[in-house]
Amino acid sequence: MRGLHAYSIVGVLWFVSVCCCFYGGQACLEEERKALLQLKDSINDYPNNATHSVFQDWVGEDCCQWERGRISCSNSSSRVIGIDLFGARDPSLGVWYPNATLFAQFKELESLYLTSNQIGGWVMPEGFIQMKNLEMLDLSRNMLHQSSQSLSGLCSLKRLKQLYLWDNQLDDRSLPSCLGNLSSLEDLDLSYNNLRNPLGISTGLCGLKRLTRLFLSHNNLHDQSLPSCLGNLSSLVYLELFGTNLTFGAISTGLCSLKRLKTLVLGITNLMIEVFHHV
Ligand SMILES: *[C@@H]1O[C@H](CO)[C@@H](O)[C@H](O)[C@H]1NC(C)=O
Ligand SMILES: *[C@@H]1O[C@H](CO)[C@@H](O)[C@H](O)[C@H]1NC(C)=O
Ligand SMILES: *[C@@H]1O[C@H](CO)[C@@H](O)[C@H](O)[C@H]1NC(C)=O
Repeated sequence: MRGLHAYSIVGVLWFVSVCCCFYGGQACLEEERKALLQLKDSINDYPNNATHSVFQDWVGEDCCQWERGRISCSNSSSRVIGIDLFGARDPSLGVWYPNATLFAQFKELESLYLTSNQIGGWVMPEGFIQMKNLEMLDLSRNMLHQSSQSLSGLCSLKRLKQLYLWDNQLDDRSLPSCLGNLSSLEDLDLSYNNLRNPLGISTGLCGLKRLTRLFLSHNNLHDQSLPSCLGNLSSLVYLELFGTNLTFGAISTGLCSLKRLKTLVLGITNLMIEVFHHV
């Protein structure tokens, strides 16, 4: 009896270890596999040229194994935690308005790269309210200036730590005041846009107490673009300001209130050293 008992335990252990080797703890959930296919259809990538498609490998049951790097899954729950759709849409199709609720179907989604997809705004932006775990969102190189509503949908992302919005032709009117609600935000990249006064009271950005790195290079910044509320960004450690119309005088006085600032990137080495001397 005792021998048989031991045999069955060994048998169970063997079975468990074989299963774990096969799946590595990852087999995608059917509902999330379907949601990914919905996403693929909505992008309508290269309909006339399949070899360009980033979705060639999106076949088979286990979506966690689809094209390495573009989909990542949690080891514990097997749910999708990362989606990378960099440059997935055929540019000749014009502006894309993705349905934000499609992404909300991934309950544990932490990072989403939608770079270079000609996104002009959202269908059902209320979908962002459900993305409770999203920490990283990259929307760089899109067309988010197209609608003033295209960024306000993001304001409900309470856990968002990194937001990349470079090269979207954004002007001051594209920045909604609710951006100050992104209370977990640590990295904000707004470079290569048409911003004049991104830190004005109307944008709410001065309220971001945890902001550590801010990228504002290549915008239409002028001396009044560094308002006194800048000092409220008390966690700011890194600031990029190259390719702007700011004068040295405005920079050296405007940044004095940033007590933690360690790195200021202006693109002119001499100037950088001098500014540190002043601060
Ligand atoms: C957006 O996606 C959700 C989830 O798939 C769906 O229920 C909804 O009908 C879609 N809305 C539009 C306008 O396409
Ligand atoms: C932003 O925060 C304010 C005050 O906490 C709140 O009234 C408003 O609804 C929030 N906006 C969004 C879009 O979450
Ligand atoms: C800056 O901080 C002060 C003091 O905490 C606060 O009264 C003010 O509203 C803040 N300004 C902005 C624009 O967040």
